[in-house]
Amino acid sequence: MLGGSSLLLPGLWLLGSVACLRGAAGGEGRKVTLEYNPGRNGSSLSLLHVRAVGRNDTLHYVWSSIGAPTVLLLYTRSESSILHVNWTKLNSTSPAGAIWVEPSGSVVYSTAVVFTKVFEYNGANASALSTGQGETFYPPYDLADFSWNGSLNQTALTAKFQGVKTSDPGGAFRNGTISFQVTAYEQSSRDSPLPRLLHTANSSKVEFIMDRVAPRGNSSRFLLEVVTVEERGRRKRLNSVQSIDDEYTPTIFEMAQLVSEPHNDSIGSSFFQ
Ligand SMILES: *[C@@H]1O[C@H](CO)[C@@H](O)[C@H](O)[C@H]1NC(C)=O
Ligand SMILES: *[C@@H]1O[C@H](CO)[C@@H](O)[C@H](O)[C@H]1NC(C)=O
Ligand SMILES: *[C@@H]1O[C@H](CO)[C@@H](O)[C@H](O)[C@H]1NC(C)=O
Ligand SMILES: *[C@@H]1O[C@H](CO)[C@@H](O)[C@H](O)[C@H]1NC(C)=O
Ligand SMILES: *[C@@H]1O[C@H](CO)[C@@H](O)[C@H](O)[C@H]1NC(C)=O
Ligand SMILES: *[C@@H]1O[C@H](CO)[C@@H](O)[C@H](O)[C@H]1NC(C)=O
Ligand SMILES: *[C@@H]1O[C@H](CO)[C@@H](O)[C@H](O)[C@H]1NC(C)=O
Ligand SMILES: *[C@@H]1O[C@H](CO)[C@@H](O)[C@H](O)[C@H]1NC(C)=O
Ligand SMILES: *[C@@H]1O[C@H](CO)[C@@H](O)[C@H](O)[C@H]1NC(C)=O
Ligand SMILES: *[C@@H]1O[C@H](CO)[C@@H](O)[C@H](O)[C@H]1NC(C)=O
Ligand SMILES: *[C@@H]1O[C@H](CO)[C@@H](O)[C@H](O)[C@H]1NC(C)=O
Repeated sequence: MLGGSSLLLPGLWLLGSVACLRGAAGGEGRKVTLEYNPGRNGSSLSLLHVRAVGRNDTLHYVWSSIGAPTVLLLYTRSESSILHVNWTKLNSTSPAGAIWVEPSGSVVYSTAVVFTKVFEYNGANASALSTGQGETFYPPYDLADFSWNGSLNQTALTAKFQGVKTSDPGGAFRNGTISFQVTAYEQSSRDSPLPRLLHTANSSKVEFIMDRVAPRGNSSRFLLEVVTVEERGRRKRLNSVQSIDDEYTPTIFEMAQLVSEPHNDSIGSSFFQ
C-alpha cells in the first residue's frame, strides 16, 4: 500500500485493444473523441462513448456505469460508423438491442468486459491465496451496488467514473470511493508509471483506484473480479509474461494477458493486459 491515502492497484492496470496482428505497426494514429451519453441531455455520467477513427476503420468503446462498470468494444470497418442508443430501452428491464452501430454491416468484431466485484481478504501472505488455504474473505463489494458520477477531459482524452457505495452498513466507504479512470490514445507511446506498458492508438487504459476505503483487516488485500464476454468461435489464451527491460522497466513485473483470436484469418484479435 502506498503512503498516501489513495490505493492504486498497479496489478490491475489494464489495456484492451484490437489489433490486426499481421498489420504493419507503421505508427498509424487515430482521431479520438469522447462523448457523454450520446443522444441524451444530462450531466450524470452513465455512458461514455470513445470514438477512435483510423484509416477506413473506427474503434468504439462504450463505457457504462449502469449496473456494474462495463466496457463494450466495437471494431468497425468504416470511418463513419455511428453509435446509437435507445435510452428508453437501455433503462428498461429488457435492454438487449439498446446499443447499436450503423451501418450494422461495418461491425467486424465486438467484445465486452465487466468489472463485477471487489474481494477483500486478510492475509499478509500473497502466495497463500493460490494454495486456497483458509484466508478470511470478507463479504465482497458488488460494483453494481455503487452509485457512479463522472467527468471527462477532452484534451487529456481521459474520463473518470467515481463510485460510492449506496448502502454501507460496515462504514468502510464513509469517506471512500472506487474509481475507474479511462484513457484513450491517438498515438503509440509508453505509459509513464511503471511498468511503462506500451500502448498504441488501438488500445486504451483503465486505472482502478480505491481511495480512502477503510480496510476491514489488518493486512487486507483486494482482488478485482473481471468477466469477459466474447463472440462465438474464438480462441482464448491467458499467458503470463515476465520481463526485465533496463531502458523502460528496470525491475521485474509479471504481466498477465488474455488474448482472444478468431479461429480463421478474419480480422479482430484483441488483448487485455
Ligand atoms: C491498429 O489496428 C489496425 C486495424 O487492424 C491495423 O491496421 C494497425 O496496424 C494497428 N496499429 C497498431 C499500431 O497496432
Ligand atoms: C438537449 O437539449 C437541447 C437544448 O436544451 C435540445 O435542443 C435538444 O433537443 C435536447 N436533446 C435531447 C435528446 O433531449
Ligand atoms: C480505404 O478504402 C478505400 C476504398 O475502399 C481503398 O481504396 C483504400 O485503399 C483503403 N485504405 C486503406 C489504408 O486501407
Ligand atoms: C426505443 O425502445 C422502446 C422500448 O423498447 C421502443 O418502444 C421505441 O420504439 C424505441 N425507439 C426507437 C427510436 O427505436
Ligand atoms: C431510469 O429508470 C429509473 C427507474 O425506472 C428512473 O428513476 C430514471 O430516471 C431513469 N433514467 C433515465 C435516464 O431515463
Ligand atoms: C506463504 O505461504 C506459502 C504457501 O502456503 C508458504 O510456503 C510460505 O512460507 C508463506 N510465507 C510466509 C511469510 O508466511
Ligand atoms: C463525483 O461527485 C463528487 C461529489 O459531488 C465530487 O467530489 C467528485 O469530484 C465527482 N467525481 C468525478 C469523477 O467527477
Ligand atoms: C485536462 O487535461 C489537460 C491536459 O492534461 C490539463 O491541462 C487540464 O487542466 C485538464 N482539465 C481539467 C478540467 O482537469
Ligand atoms: C472519515 O473521515 C473522518 C474525517 O476525516 C474521520 O474522522 C473518520 O475516521 C473517517 N472514517 C473512516 C471510516 O475512514
Ligand atoms: C488488528 O490488530 C489489532 C491489534 O493487534 C487487533 O486487536 C485486532 O483484532 C486485529 N483485527 C483484525 C480484524 O484482525
Ligand atoms: C471466419 O469465421 C467467422 C465466424 O466463424 C465467419 O463469420 C467468417 O466468415 C470467417 N471468415 C473467413 C475468412 O473464413
